[in-house]
Amino acid sequence: MTHLVGQIHPAPDKSISHRALMISSIAEGKTTIKNFLRSDDCLSTLNCLKTLGVEIEDKGNTIIVNGKGKFLSPPTKPLYAGNSGTTARLLSGILAGQKFKSTITGDESLSTRPMNRIARPLTLMGAKIKTSPDGKLPLEISGGDLSPIDYDSPIASAQVKSCVLLAGLYARNGGTTFREPYLSRDHTERMLINFGAKISSGTSPTDGKFFTSISPTEKLTTPGEITVPGDISSAAFFLVAGAIIPDSKLELKNVGLNPTRVGILNVLKRMGANIQVLPHKPAKESNFSEPTGDIIVSFGNSLKAVRIEKKEIPLLIDELPIIAVAATQAQGETIVSGAQELRVKETDRIKSIVTELSRLGAKIKELPDGFSITGPTKLTFNKNDNLNSYGDHRMAMSLAIALIAATGEPETFSNIKNFECASVSYPDFYKTLKTLIKK
Ligand code: S3P
Repeated sequence: MTHLVGQIHPAPDKSISHRALMISSIAEGKTTIKNFLRSDDCLSTLNCLKTLGVEIEDKGNTIIVNGKGKFLSPPTKPLYAGNSGTTARLLSGILAGQKFKSTITGDESLSTRPMNRIARPLTLMGAKIKTSPDGKLPLEISGGDLSPIDYDSPIASAQVKSCVLLAGLYARNGGTTFREPYLSRDHTERMLINFGAKISSGTSPTDGKFFTSISPTEKLTTPGEITVPGDISSAAFFLVAGAIIPDSKLELKNVGLNPTRVGILNVLKRMGANIQVLPHKPAKESNFSEPTGDIIVSFGNSLKAVRIEKKEIPLLIDELPIIAVAATQAQGETIVSGAQELRVKETDRIKSIVTELSRLGAKIKELPDGFSITGPTKLTFNKNDNLNSYGDHRMAMSLAIALIAATGEPETFSNIKNFECASVSYPDFYKTLKTLIKK
């Protein structure tokens, strides 16, 4: 029987690679970014920054950014964000502080995603923002004199938070605060602190919301070097594969273990998966505070169903499609709720995962804000059928793991429509997976 065995370094972190590029571009000095993720999304950010006059030396997995300081050059063409919500939304925060007009465009999927969530706070800060009539791309941004705000966000979103904090760097006379109902990933805050920004955060005693505040900053200064850790969202596909495919044992090296990203580990442990986390000691000389470690997963106990509710969602938002695959192999009913945000990701991930896992025989039901799955079910696949990734990288890789569980044959990935879109976050996914497959 096909099983997965071996040791890998999962792809570098996508969120951190974007932020490393953007923040070193608006800093003073030269930043060397090591273990940069060369995926389609991060290359969209890199190209936008070049269009804004930033000198970037591209040496493969190492990128050298010659920081331009806070003020960039007016672009001579629209900034194309491709499929990347992080590029469009974070860059908007920086562009809101620039005294020129710029336009952000994107591919078909990104052009259907909501941009009002950033247009609203940036407009309150004094930027002039034009979206399409229904609040989508293209975004036209005329930046300049920004005022600080105290913004109470209805959603927990690292993209909106980062956009507001980056704009806050440019606000005159006072600090900017972002409040959110639950804490979303904090990579922007950690990285800005490494570049000398003043940031504070905590929980408000009155309403229990999380707040993050930034002081306007004259200039950011490079820490010199940033090494990007492995992406737990990319490791997630292998974590689930190791937990559900009999006789598998995988060692995942140098994975980011930021507490705002490790929801998948907590869920798999609650399911009863055999997972061992070996945290690294922070390097003394390190000036970059993202915790890392190695993770060992092996097939063992039978899994049991879990509940995943609203407050846990931001800690595992991108892992829900692969968690759904794990839930098909767990005893009982797994219920995911409070995850409406999945409807506005690269596809409507609730509809997509329900439709595609149903085709493999899973007992999965759509809920307005999530899904429920009753397991365990032996997944099955007829090679004359096709599955659809809907052009969504995380759907493509989740379906690939479901197919390995169903058929044991990576060749069946050619039955996943638009499987190549995995390159948005994990260009080497197929190659890496093939090295692990043992028959
Ligand atoms: C991201 C934040 C999340 C996540 C996305 C990457 C980031 O989006 O889903 O893939 O890098 O900040 P939201 O902040 O919109 O939830």
